[in-house]
Amino acid sequence: MNVADNSKAHARARLALRAERAFGLDSVRISEESVQAEAKITSMKTEASPEFSTVPRATDLFAAPPVTISLPVKSTSEKVSLLKMMNENEVRDCPKCRLCETRTNTVFGEGDPDSKIMFIGEGPGENEDLQGRPFVGRAGELLNKWITAMGLRREQVFIANIVKCRPPGNREPAPDEVATCTPYLVRQIEIIHPRVIVTLGRPSMQYMLQTKNSMGKMRGTWQDWRGVKLMPTYHPAYVLRSYTYETRKAVWDDLQMVMKEVGLPLPARKGKE
Ligand code: URA
Ligand code: SF4
Repeated sequence: MNVADNSKAHARARLALRAERAFGLDSVRISEESVQAEAKITSMKTEASPEFSTVPRATDLFAAPPVTISLPVKSTSEKVSLLKMMNENEVRDCPKCRLCETRTNTVFGEGDPDSKIMFIGEGPGENEDLQGRPFVGRAGELLNKWITAMGLRREQVFIANIVKCRPPGNREPAPDEVATCTPYLVRQIEIIHPRVIVTLGRPSMQYMLQTKNSMGKMRGTWQDWRGVKLMPTYHPAYVLRSYTYETRKAVWDDLQMVMKEVGLPLPARKGKE
């Protein structure tokens, strides 16, 4: 094995280890060497500056060839300014539906506007409402692990929700609230122009695909949203409630399909490294 092959094998073993940590699945073979490599990388990360500018961008890491798209892709600075304007001028103080009466903060969404992957959840919970950021509670911790298992950092994907304000008591957003709020989401997707959308949970999947089909039927199957590939998977909060081998394996299978689609290296499999 030459040096390049060796480091590739290490990278895949590292991914396998992270997957095992995120999903509690032991379908992967992990060598002592890669455990040590992972420990070294983890300690390097904590020493590194947390500044966003030092984080490698998703676009630098994805090896997939560009797709043919009909619209000119916006530059990063254009994307940043369009998203910023939408947030500051429209979303931040949005009065359009009843959820504005009970929210603390709107939750616009965050991440790399050039990311090839966009995660779409349901709506802010208590922690998200207090902090004004998506997926920062328990479900968010699990989502972060999933993203790490994919070989990415949270800053390298874009995370949003179908409604930007917390439904009281974490109830499901009502159809009229979803209808009023989702034009914001649609514009975010158009600006970001991801290669793949991952919907988290049933409400997000049903809205995006305009279907009443169940999660059981839809998850793990490629869908289409206006020419963008869409992968429905379970919501991390559901996985926390139903922490079985089947649900965890299902999510990891779905996410690996996404990784393959965007050209991210897949983790080493048991018995073939
Ligand atoms: N659940 C969601 O669907 N979205 C969040 O932002 C947090 C929890
Ligand atoms: Fe506006 Fe959406 Fe909040 Fe309703 S949920 S007030 S539409 S930002």
